[in-house]
Amino acid sequence: MSETQRLSWLPFLKQPVPAGLREPVQVAAFELAQGASCPARAEIGPGMEDEAWELLPEGEGWIVRGGRRGVLYGAYALLEALHTGRKPWSGLQKPFYADRMLNCWDNMDGSVERGYAGRSLWFENGGFAYDPKRIRQMGRLFASCGLNVLCLNNVNVHWPAQRLIADMLPKLAEFAAILRPFGVRLMTSVDFSQPMRDGVPTADPLDSRVQDWWNVCADRVWAAIPDFFGFLVKADSEHRPGPFTYGRTHAEGANMLARAVAPHGGKLVWRAFVYNCQQDWRDTKTDRPCAAYETYAPLDGQFDGNVILQVKNGPFDFQVREPVSPTFFAMPRTDLALELQLAQEYTGQQIDIYAMPPMWDELLQDLPPQTVKAVAAVSNLGRDANFFGHPFAALNLFAFGEYAWYPCVRREQIVRDWVRLTYPDLPDGDRAALAALLLDSRHVYELYTAPLGLCWMVSPNNHYGPSPDGYEYQAWGTYHRADRSAIGIDRTGGGTGYAAQYPDALRARYESLDTCPDELLLFFHRLPYDYVMRDGRTLVQRVYDDHFEGLARTEAMAETLEALPLPSPDREEVLERIGRQRTDAREWCDIINSFFRRFSGAEDAHGRRIYP
Ligand code: GCU
Repeated sequence: MSETQRLSWLPFLKQPVPAGLREPVQVAAFELAQGASCPARAEIGPGMEDEAWELLPEGEGWIVRGGRRGVLYGAYALLEALHTGRKPWSGLQKPFYADRMLNCWDNMDGSVERGYAGRSLWFENGGFAYDPKRIRQMGRLFASCGLNVLCLNNVNVHWPAQRLIADMLPKLAEFAAILRPFGVRLMTSVDFSQPMRDGVPTADPLDSRVQDWWNVCADRVWAAIPDFFGFLVKADSEHRPGPFTYGRTHAEGANMLARAVAPHGGKLVWRAFVYNCQQDWRDTKTDRPCAAYETYAPLDGQFDGNVILQVKNGPFDFQVREPVSPTFFAMPRTDLALELQLAQEYTGQQIDIYAMPPMWDELLQDLPPQTVKAVAAVSNLGRDANFFGHPFAALNLFAFGEYAWYPCVRREQIVRDWVRLTYPDLPDGDRAALAALLLDSRHVYELYTAPLGLCWMVSPNNHYGPSPDGYEYQAWGTYHRADRSAIGIDRTGGGTGYAAQYPDALRARYESLDTCPDELLLFFHRLPYDYVMRDGRTLVQRVYDDHFEGLARTEAMAETLEALPLPSPDREEVLERIGRQRTDAREWCDIINSFFRRFSGAEDAHGRRIYP
């Protein structure tokens, strides 16, 4: 099977994109010629905003009219409508967020931090090494779901990634040129202490030698790549250098870099992922979820206009279930970006099926889309033939693009569209069965993993598989503190006080046992095993029931997939992975249930087998 046929949700575009196309409008015309089932042409609408587009009927077909990049998004939107059978959009369309970013954690040795789809698509052996055809296909994936910024190296900037914005700039410019026709702009992660590699004795953001170094650096980057997007920074986090070393705030650190890129129209994206990763587990006063708010909320209003502060969706770190991060509500005078993780680090590593749209719909209930100015996601891409490891993991990139363009609750539609586009030849009933399975997959995964918002019961080595005490005595600030009478952390006013970081309505909801959602009960409260839940079951019985149900549902998923006539090689890949997921679900079920029984002494009310 050729690579093009494995281009995930664009299987209807049969030919690889040729190399010579320079402008998005040319790509749009090419794609329409390949994929439209009726006459369709693309044209630039004079005076239209860069990313805006509209679809105008013309005879039996359509005109796609748009701004320079909008025309491309319009073309894919028309193709999507034609291939899903939906009515094409009418009226002028514009993205809700101007900056729709994918953060790739690719290292220059070719490995991908938390990558589950093979090695890097563009790095190997300390330099660039890629197949331009594949990069064009990736550009196509981006454009077809409306993503427009790619950060191509890991936020943990390991040597020699520092060279990307130094002597490797010509190579970086070549790479940027491949993606430009697809409307994608580049960004790189930078090392806050980078000037020191170049003989500057300090990285203090208030030192003029440091400022000069970054100013010259930015001048050179934008001279080589005039539409370069900006820099991404992870500072003072998990042993990365940062302004704290010099007694400076993160606003001072970010603004120094922002001023270097501002003359070029560049953005400075600063990650709000700071916490004490060397905590003593004996310390019960420090509560990791409090950290981002404590660091950043006092800085609201101090960041320059071209700084984007990128905040993870929850206060911990991409766990299966976390409440929304309170930092989002504390910084009305700062441009915030929501950071999601498509790479399934804690969510099944592209072995287990985990479709994210249900999770994002829930997030949208608590986080109105206008609270943030931009969106970013950690990439799930890699060099595997299908780009994503698990064929179904492609859905998460597609869905991220759709939410980034137009954030509103619509899990069913996105999942159904993806299934329809990806598997056009499946019979309707099978497509419906697959969509239902995907929509349920996050719930199933949650049922058999860490219960009731506890988080971190995963193996600390590779973040895959159960280990209820694995993080318990570690330095990462990740504790459930189970003893024989109770489990969980009290984060209410009577406990660590974390809940007080929320606006009143959310605080009240989480603090009260009457209104705290069951799924977050042990995130906010420390409770005895025989605590009686709203539905009359004890807490420990609920844990047992969920785990047996999660396992049973995984087994049912495996049967559904076995009966589904998916095309090859997706079928083989999916069946191989669901086999592993089934084994893992059993392991999770038995280990978590056994852990709870050992501490609580409670038998299962239904007499099911729990191992001693
Ligand atoms: C997690 C992840 C790391 C990553 C970090 C980050 O801790 O395990 O690999 O570097 O998040 O978001 O920076």
